[in-house]
Amino acid sequence: MQHEKSPSPFSADSQPLWRLTEPSIWSLAHSDSKEDPARSILRTLWDQPRWLEAYHLYDDRGSELFERICELPEYYLTRTENSILEKNGPRMIAHAPVTCIVELGAGSAKKTTHLLRAQIERRGTGIFAPIDVSLPGLRACRDFVRQNLPKIEFHGLHARYEDGLSSIDKNLPTLFVFLGSTIGNFNPSDFVRFFSLLSAAMGPHDYFLLGADRIKAVKVLEPAYADSQGLTAQFILNLFHNINRRTGGNFDLGNMRYHSWYNPEWARIEMYAVSRAAQEIRFPSFGASFRWDKDARILVEISRKFDPVRLQEQLGFFDLIPVEHFTDPDDWFSLLLFKKMA
Ligand code: TRP
Repeated sequence: MQHEKSPSPFSADSQPLWRLTEPSIWSLAHSDSKEDPARSILRTLWDQPRWLEAYHLYDDRGSELFERICELPEYYLTRTENSILEKNGPRMIAHAPVTCIVELGAGSAKKTTHLLRAQIERRGTGIFAPIDVSLPGLRACRDFVRQNLPKIEFHGLHARYEDGLSSIDKNLPTLFVFLGSTIGNFNPSDFVRFFSLLSAAMGPHDYFLLGADRIKAVKVLEPAYADSQGLTAQFILNLFHNINRRTGGNFDLGNMRYHSWYNPEWARIEMYAVSRAAQEIRFPSFGASFRWDKDARILVEISRKFDPVRLQEQLGFFDLIPVEHFTDPDDWFSLLLFKKMA
């Protein structure tokens, strides 16, 4: 008996690894991420200097705060990137003859609708496969696409980038999209690992669209991460609630402050939690503690700023060939389109 293959963006080898866990949303049948979150937190916290992995920022409260940051007057990134996509979506799609759009960490995918609309206008049809670890985000995205872009075939992948990327069919002409300058939040080793993985996941007909925030005047950069309402401070410090919950730790949000600055040598904004007074941080269930001195800092997040030409050159060493560069009138933000070397 012939079984009709259910349509999906997966390769034949990967398809059996995925289950439809709710309408149009796939999850890995056997997710092997057994890593204990508490231990992964303590590992980087004991590093010198101390730091924390940024993904702990995004609990429910963190995700809500982040949405609000995107609307702040000082936070020019979201609006600038959106305007570039709105203006150039049709050109981007014209350059990338694909049938599928895979977005990494889509969130609600508002900005991506410019590409989806252009795809429908030009080709009448298309697959949209966002990969995201947030299930509420994927649901919102699915419902939005169904409502507003019914010609798009939606497949949400509830997974980490690595797991999602490696399952996409290499013969399906695909545009991979990575927006919001999230690439700037990767530390140097994650940055290299990410592009190696992405490049390996891309087939000879695939394209890549990258959103990257640019090096610019410090007086524009710094306020974007130190807004007058203090939302960014709340967002960064909220992570310590999350950490207490996961580790049983005793971080006291009243006894720390937020500090950020633009480090020109590393071309990045650095976001720190700074201790207001000497204090003892304890993790009873791990029998571990450390002294957090007054004014000592813990690095919570970085946001790198890029020279787009240099970035294009660098990505050449990952077999990505620049196709086109889209920017705004102030040259504040870049959307870089690449093609995979055949
Ligand atoms: N990638 C965006 C940026 O670097 C969004 C972002 C990530 C962000 N982490 C952040 C914004 C922390 C403010 C604070 O701007």
